[in-house]
Amino acid sequence: MSNADDLKRQAAAKALELVKPGMRLGLGTGSTAAHFVDLLGQRVAQGLDVICVPTSERTRAQAQSLAIPLAELDDLPQLDLTIDGTDEFDPALRLIKGGGGALLREKIVAAASRRMVVITDASKAVETLGRFPLPVEVNRFGAEATRRLIEREAAKAGCRGPLTLRTEKGAPYVTDGGHYIFDCAFGTIPAPEELAARLVAIPGVVEHGLFIGYAQAVISAAAQGIEVYGSLEP
Ligand code: A5P
Repeated sequence: MSNADDLKRQAAAKALELVKPGMRLGLGTGSTAAHFVDLLGQRVAQGLDVICVPTSERTRAQAQSLAIPLAELDDLPQLDLTIDGTDEFDPALRLIKGGGGALLREKIVAAASRRMVVITDASKAVETLGRFPLPVEVNRFGAEATRRLIEREAAKAGCRGPLTLRTEKGAPYVTDGGHYIFDCAFGTIPAPEELAARLVAIPGVVEHGLFIGYAQAVISAAAQGIEVYGSLEP
């Protein structure tokens, strides 16, 4: 296991301490969340009783392979706790997510959870969001027109930089929801709330990767140890 991977697993193990019998859990997506799902699977095999909603088809497949009990969000619309990774977090626990393409379901699941706790290694900490290109999920219809509107509205919020249509194996990447993603390399996002408000007002934008007001805590693992930002209290 690489050093970064080892840190992600440490953060995941710390988050596992928050899981209590009977909990309804949201399961995140990405390499850090995959460690959590793996460790949770071990606990379930030992008899832990939980029920979980995955945030992507990838996470669903992993959880199924570990025999973790799953439900649809429609059947379990209120969750106790969601554990997910992040691409960036700032001192106000604002996040950029969606590097793994699952931002829409991740946000829906986080919004349905009483608590969201983020697990990460310390390399994702930033003073100002934007170093990681912001993923914006758009409807496939009129994607080019939507791209122009994103550029225009982002500029009003002080954000400029190239927007790249995400691709996979030479074709546009298609999300679990059947949409495209523009990765917006702004470099810095001086006013995340304003940018978020402007993006959601664009008709073709399905969702964006700014998670503001979702994370109750960030568990960040570094070589020197684990740091917790925010509160892990229920
Ligand atoms: C998935 O869409 C993302 O939001 C992930 O949570 C994020 O990209 C973090 O992924 P890693 O844990 O692989 O860094």
